[in-house]
Amino acid sequence: MSDSDKPRDNSKVAAIVLAAGKGKRMKSDIPKVLHEVCGRPIIWYVLDEVKRLEPGEVLLVVGHGSDAVSEEAPGVRCVTQSEQKGTGHAVMVAMEELGPEFDEIMVLPGDSPLVRSSTLESLLQARRKDGVGASVLTVEMDDPTGYGRIVRDDRGMVKRVIEEADASEDERGVTEVNASTYAFNRSLLESALSNLTDHNAQGEYYLTDIVEAMVSCGEGVIPVHGLAEEALGVNDRRQIAVVGEAIRRRINEALMMSGVTIVDPKNAYIDYGVEVGRDTVIMPMVFITGATKIGQGCMIGPCSAINESAIGDRCVVECSWLDGCEISREVNVGPFSRLRPGCKVGAGSKVGSFVEMKKAVVGTGSKIPHLSYMGDAVIGDGVNVGAGSITCNYDGEEKHSTEIDDRAFLGSDTMLIAPVRIGKDAATGAGSSIYQDVPDGNLGIERHLQKNIPDWRERKKSGQGKEKEPGSND
Ligand code: UD1
Ligand code: CA
Repeated sequence: MSDSDKPRDNSKVAAIVLAAGKGKRMKSDIPKVLHEVCGRPIIWYVLDEVKRLEPGEVLLVVGHGSDAVSEEAPGVRCVTQSEQKGTGHAVMVAMEELGPEFDEIMVLPGDSPLVRSSTLESLLQARRKDGVGASVLTVEMDDPTGYGRIVRDDRGMVKRVIEEADASEDERGVTEVNASTYAFNRSLLESALSNLTDHNAQGEYYLTDIVEAMVSCGEGVIPVHGLAEEALGVNDRRQIAVVGEAIRRRINEALMMSGVTIVDPKNAYIDYGVEVGRDTVIMPMVFITGATKIGQGCMIGPCSAINESAIGDRCVVECSWLDGCEISREVNVGPFSRLRPGCKVGAGSKVGSFVEMKKAVVGTGSKIPHLSYMGDAVIGDGVNVGAGSITCNYDGEEKHSTEIDDRAFLGSDTMLIAPVRIGKDAATGAGSSIYQDVPDGNLGIERHLQKNIPDWRERKKSGQGKEKEPGSND
């Protein structure tokens, strides 16, 4: 193991994540850091990267919606900043809660979910290596609007950070921005914090002013350059879309690198944490969300939404909506079907087009090919459900279950008035309303006898005969 491969000891680092702000610019009732991107709240991404550093402590500064924010940060110590007087003030509040054992402090904004732990590690290393007071993550942005700008000295060190509201015309032209992510020497941070004021355009205690304070005491502040996207913060809904696109790209790239074909990555909406096996092809306009796992060699889409489901190997899901389902291997679903929570479909079965299922368990090698509703049903192996068959599972007050045993064959348009059981190897006649159990091997048929009227068309033309036209009510 080379020196650089050795795990770093960050046990004396305390990471402070700032998440007390209201996020006024979001125009939302939900605290800003709880807005979701690819299935997780913004704050989750920040905390996940921070935890990878294995710091001795992570402190989350909460304020607006503090209970809801704390709930999304299990195992993280939360500190309440009851009045939000700025990022500098938020750090002051956190420092009061910090034990004496930490000598390095890392500060991050809770609203920038694209920062990577490797960059955070570089930030720590850069400060340690040069023995300076602080390191600051900076990035180049084509459009730096809204961000604090970095002012460097002639040696390339950071001289100060100027907030946009306080910047001159010239300073606004600077495209190197402050990612608001820092590593500090603890005692130097503490003395700079004690001198912080709120004399600025926004009347806030700016954490950014720490930089100038350190420099004026002869301490160096070293810039560490990150990827532009790492500084992307979420202040308004437009930025949620920008950040969402970047996180989606990361998720899709990781899947492609693991052997998944994504035909049009810009049109594949896959949540963080979704698992997809190799050689699976994801067609355009596919949404895969929640804790979903898809096997190998599947074809998903186009136009499908799969939520909280498990899908086995070599399945095809075409233009269908699946939620809370367990699908075994070699199953075909769709096009145009909807599988609601509680469905399980066994190996080699087929759920064809325009089929809705709810709490339906299907065995192996069964077929429900066309236009059916199967709700609260247990369907065995090798069953064939004829087109248009329906479980009448609701009597207006309660739901009842239907059992269709192995190798049963339902004629088209069978109405199964639950509770009812179709036995093994049994069959039903097309168009039957089955309200009694059909024993094993029996044919259940419920129909009126058909009457054919001879010469009906001829007699109608010539005005003879009083027989009504089939289907007419007059
Ligand atoms: C901040 C930086 C800016 C930087 C930008 C990067 C300051 C003064 N400015 O601006 O230089 O370019 O981030 O995204 O630091 N917060 C608290 N308590 C408070 C105020 C804020 O916890 O009293 C939290 C917010 O919830 C948020 C984070 O701190 O998660 C950053 O605050 P925000 O108001 O978004 O700062 P910016 O204006 O984006
Ligand atoms: Ca921000």
